[in-house]
Amino acid sequence: MAKAGEFARKVMSGNRCAVIADETSARLFGDRISESLTAEKFSPHLVRIPVGEKSKSLTQVERICDELIQAGLDRNSFVVGLGGGVIGDISGFVAAIFQRGISHIQIPTTLLAMVDSSIGGKTAVNLDAGKNLIGAFHHPALIIADVEALESLPRQELRQGYAEIIKHAIIRDSEMFQALSSRAQVEGSRCATLKLSWRDPSTVARDDGFVSLIRRNIAIKARIVSADVREISGERALLNFGHTVGHAIERATDFKIPHGDCSSIGMVAACGISIKRAGLSSQERDDVVSLLKQFQLPTQLPTEVDREKIAAAVAHDKKFLGGKIRFVVTPRIGDAHVSNDVTMKDIREAIENL
Ligand SMILES: NC(=O)c1ccc[n+]([C@@H]2O[C@H](COP(=O)([O-])OP(=O)(O)OC[C@H]3O[C@@H](n4cnc5c(N)ncnc54)[C@H](O)[C@@H]3O)[C@@H](O)[C@H]2O)c1
Ligand SMILES: [Zn+2]
Repeated sequence: MAKAGEFARKVMSGNRCAVIADETSARLFGDRISESLTAEKFSPHLVRIPVGEKSKSLTQVERICDELIQAGLDRNSFVVGLGGGVIGDISGFVAAIFQRGISHIQIPTTLLAMVDSSIGGKTAVNLDAGKNLIGAFHHPALIIADVEALESLPRQELRQGYAEIIKHAIIRDSEMFQALSSRAQVEGSRCATLKLSWRDPSTVARDDGFVSLIRRNIAIKARIVSADVREISGERALLNFGHTVGHAIERATDFKIPHGDCSSIGMVAACGISIKRAGLSSQERDDVVSLLKQFQLPTQLPTEVDREKIAAAVAHDKKFLGGKIRFVVTPRIGDAHVSNDVTMKDIREAIENL
């Protein structure tokens, strides 16, 4: 982050820019980024928005655009998104539409944003009717992921990122899956004795293993999205592994359960369906369940959640193109494909078994 200005200088020509952050990321990193940009003769204006998913709204977009005009940004200016996925999504959308589109820099500060949402150019805001319904593809000119930023991240947020990391391992990287499993076992035993969660956030930046884990996940996501930049060929669909049921759980529970937790439960359902439709072994399903558990991710639906409501939400999912169910399955850990054989009955069964 201290070098943000230098990196930006390599790709940006205009000097006026806006740094969009939520209250937390502004407080933690706003000064550092503004100073670094100023040192390279950029002229940054910090825009703060409230923390949380509610900020991903058209109302905020309009407010931010007004502020950018007042701050003197023009067609040669650029936008920096400094924060988690919420900030990445809304700042990217503002960059996509402000003066018909200006450049965007992502500075992700959550694990999820580093390994997932900052990569791939998807930007969006929500409508009352649903999440991410308004958006644009707008690839960032630069992404700066500084692992030290994660030192202040609460464990609950770290876990959300691990859900995506485990997803990447299941669909693309069996070696990483093994590495995570053996590491989680060692750390897991330490957890039991020291009452620590899997990883102590205050030491993350000094841990080479953790840094290379992030690097590896960035590479996986980048490879998948560059093979299918605008989500046409189907390669990108693999990233939805566990997410069809996961999104349905999010919607059916009014977004009270965090996204990573919902995808974790969704991945268990997807493994159940993969046993039936793709030949996944039940041993490998059990391995997935135990890895998720090691990272303190949930693998079962809370009993009070209405299964029928989730099945109904799945039926409304946007991935059901032309009435056909396209579902991502894994035949073995490290491999995944889209299947057209999965029926609504399979999905219903998997949900009932959760
Ligand atoms: N565009 C994509 O491809 C894509 C992919 C996945 C998710 N998303 C979106 O990402 C969003 C979720 O992102 P998220 O999980 O990062 O949530 P978030 O942006 O809400 O961040 C989570 C919390 O962590 C705080 N925070 C951020 N950085 C911090 C730090 N370094 N230290 C302490 N606290 C910090 C934030 O203020 C917030 O309270 C959702 O809106 C989702 O739709 C987008
Ligand atoms: Zn996800």
